[in-house]
Amino acid sequence: MLSAVPPPVTVRVPAKINLHLAVGPLRDDGFHDLVTVFHAVSLFDEVTVAVSDAPGIEVYGEGVSEVPADETNLAWRAVQVLAERADRDPDVRMVLRKGIPVAGGMAGGSADAAGALLALSTLWKLDLHRDELAELAAELGSDVTFALYGGTALGTGRGERIVPVLSRHTQHWVIALHRGGLSTPAVYAELDRLRGSNPPVERPVEPVLEAIAGGDPRQLALSLGNDLQAAAVSMMPDLRRTLRAGVDAGALAGVVSGSGPTCAFLCASAEAAVDVAAELAGVGVCRTVRVAHGPVPGARIVEQHEPP
Ligand code: C5P
Repeated sequence: MLSAVPPPVTVRVPAKINLHLAVGPLRDDGFHDLVTVFHAVSLFDEVTVAVSDAPGIEVYGEGVSEVPADETNLAWRAVQVLAERADRDPDVRMVLRKGIPVAGGMAGGSADAAGALLALSTLWKLDLHRDELAELAAELGSDVTFALYGGTALGTGRGERIVPVLSRHTQHWVIALHRGGLSTPAVYAELDRLRGSNPPVERPVEPVLEAIAGGDPRQLALSLGNDLQAAAVSMMPDLRRTLRAGVDAGALAGVVSGSGPTCAFLCASAEAAVDVAAELAGVGVCRTVRVAHGPVPGARIVEQHEPP
């Protein structure tokens, strides 16, 4: 008897910003120990997987020319890792619809990998718990685990060890997208170069955790911080102008997102964010702006299409 082909599965997965990013010294394995606070915001990619006898990957959306549509894509690595774990052939077609800026420091590639893990484990009915998916996610990249969980979370290790942070308050952001991208390894290397033999300056995480718990955006604005910002600005000096322009436009504070070059501006309210976005878009310091809010949930199944 022929077994029925399961319907395609679509997963929606959010971008992240780092409300706090303290980078420790370079480790022997080429990574840095981090203490970070991840915050998932409402810019999303969609990952669809379907059983296919023509396996492969298709990518749609803004910036797709920079996204590899082959086995070097991290989302395809996720397919391979899950196929090995399930002892199956990776006989799937994957479609990525990009809403997260490419190479922007918002973990779009990691989000796609997380989405692929959840979508494929659902398609193949592997019945894996989120913690089991998280173990596979950690193998794939430092930010993949967080994309599964979403919300606001404390990340340690190289970023893959996640503890959720309770936050009942929604924060409003303006996201400024830059022309061009920055390579994450290059930004970390620039930070090491800038530090030379000086040890990292202490950046305590407690103030940002207290501000998240309290929910007052003005308090949170005072405690945003990212050690990679100096390195990103050193490589792309225009970012200084972007950061200043956001605050001049009425944001409470601005911070480079992850390794950049995307900048995230915290605003006092949803209305303020719309105003800041409109003003910032007119100044000409970035390619485009988006309004977003957070925290939002991590990877979620949005559709399991039934066959016609
Ligand atoms: O884990 P992921 O693939 O996102 O990391 C990309 C690169 O960023 C690493 O190869 C490394 O150069 C740098 N990185 C780091 N320390 C971390 C995370 C990333 O040095 N904690």
